[in-house]
Amino acid sequence: MKILVTGGAGFIGSHTVVELVNAGHEPIIIDNFNNSEKSVLKGLRKIIKKPIKCYDKDCNDTKILEQICQKENIEGIIHFAAYKAVGESVENPLKYYENNIGSTLSVLKVMIKLGIKNLVFSSSCTVYGQPDQIPVTEDTPRKPAASPYGNTKTICEDILRDTITAGNPLKIIALRYFNPIGAHPSALIGELPSGVPGNLVPFITQTAAGIRQKLMVFGSDYNTPDGTNIRDFIHVVDLAKAHVSAIQLLDSKQDNTYDVFNIGTGTGNTVLEIIKTFEKVNKLKLNYELGPRRAGDVEKIYGDVEKASKIMGWKVEKTLADSLKDAWRWEKKLMKKNG
Ligand code: WQD
Repeated sequence: MKILVTGGAGFIGSHTVVELVNAGHEPIIIDNFNNSEKSVLKGLRKIIKKPIKCYDKDCNDTKILEQICQKENIEGIIHFAAYKAVGESVENPLKYYENNIGSTLSVLKVMIKLGIKNLVFSSSCTVYGQPDQIPVTEDTPRKPAASPYGNTKTICEDILRDTITAGNPLKIIALRYFNPIGAHPSALIGELPSGVPGNLVPFITQTAAGIRQKLMVFGSDYNTPDGTNIRDFIHVVDLAKAHVSAIQLLDSKQDNTYDVFNIGTGTGNTVLEIIKTFEKVNKLKLNYELGPRRAGDVEKIYGDVEKASKIMGWKVEKTLADSLKDAWRWEKKLMKKNG
């Protein structure tokens, strides 16, 4: 299938491009490089050993998006393009509402106009807020998001559902990610946080690399086994493969359907367990300190991923050790490249 990958030069997008090629599909990237780097295309080319078509355009521009989909005879779209920094979204909500919701509206309008039916949407476990019970299933009620970023995901899911309710013949799957970590085992692509990383694992690897002086653990007085938050950390390659399973499932689905899947490992780990595992598998000591809580943090969440394995036939293959080894290998590669 010819698949347009919006935000395909991003962390999850680029890993998904690799898995789409591995599965025999023809991915085409559209990315305005607002939140990603062109160097990713070089890494992609080395992994997939052939050129990857990329349009340096903004998918908010519906006219341009339509022209590209028409010219490339696009049969399906995987929509990653969005800003995702929780903290930044609190400071600059309009930037997030305009881009994350605007780009989704643009994608939907073009699909309806051109009769493109298959859409996989990048959603997030943030729609669950602080769940009353864990693990969360897809039927766990969504809660008011703790950030404008999370709210854009909730709103976009509602837009997708309403588009189907209106009778449009689209076939849509929303994947609710938990915490994507790690990097491609080749260390040719990986996470490229801009500025000081907000997320845990890139902050850990940059601390180990000496780029950051010390990792601050945000809160050690939570109601968890060691007092630190619990999250569901999934290898980005496993997450990428879930998108291939989703787009392939859509091919066999009836028109006018919308479905949601949790994509995580189905297990939770505390922040301290991540730190200890990182130190163990990479044979190093990490400089960290237990500090105050970070506003907006959910105490504990991890996903029930039964539905994805039953209906999509998707299963996690990588371990937490794989993720933390691959994350460190990528950071060392970046250190070498940046000198
Ligand atoms: C994880 C844990 C922090 C940094 C992310 C994305 C969000 C969504 C869900 C995709 C928390 C702790 C972190 C640090 C720390 N993903 N931490 N010190 O908040 O779960 O959200 O996953 O949609 O977009 O942001 O991830 O990595 O920021 O934090 O102690 O320097 O690590 O308190 O408990 P989070 P995170």
